[in-house]
Amino acid sequence: MKTAIIYRSHHGTTEKVARMISQGLGDENCQLFNLKNQNNIDLAKFDAVIIGGSIHAGNIQNKVKEFCNKNMLALLEKPLGLFLSSMEEKQAQEQFDKAYPELLRRHAISCKLTGGEFNFDRMNFLEKMIVRKVSGISQSIFRIDENRIKELIDDMAGCSKFHLLHTTGIEN
Ligand SMILES: Cc1cc2nc3c(=O)[nH]c(=O)nc-3n(C[C@H](O)[C@H](O)[C@H](O)COP(=O)(O)O)c2cc1C
Repeated sequence: MKTAIIYRSHHGTTEKVARMISQGLGDENCQLFNLKNQNNIDLAKFDAVIIGGSIHAGNIQNKVKEFCNKNMLALLEKPLGLFLSSMEEKQAQEQFDKAYPELLRRHAISCKLTGGEFNFDRMNFLEKMIVRKVSGISQSIFRIDENRIKELIDDMAGCSKFHLLHTTGIEN
């Protein structure tokens, strides 16, 4: 099953997670799209879609929001996975619910909070100041949640087996 993995990432966490998902599903079955420079993605070429973004100051990137809204109908016709990078654990679910439209969240076969990183080496001066002030953290923290990523991969792979069985009659 051909899967589009579409993401936006400021400092590389979400990109790293997108690559882990691609590896888990098999790179040969996946195509990665970075919304920073790719907006016109032909979803008709794909059987399934996975979308990821990250939270900054309480919000997901506008490019992810715009992509979801612009492609809502096409996304509702395909198996969908949604994931989010963030660091504030208490607000994580609330941030997720605000990040993705309700229709897509309800339709998705997998919705995962995949953890996050505070990578000081990749932040500019202002970002370092904000993170220090808001979180009281002054050193890099790497907290990508591999278990949640594995769950998302398993959910999408399960759906892929179902798709194969119903389109070809072949059991994988
Ligand atoms: C300036 C800044 C603001 C952030 N604001 C939030 C926030 O409001 N809530 C949260 O959960 N995480 C916040 N984070 C943590 C990011 O979501 C985390 O660093 C994530 O891994 C970034 O992913 P990316 O590199 O793919 O953009 C913030 C990080 C930075 C650098």
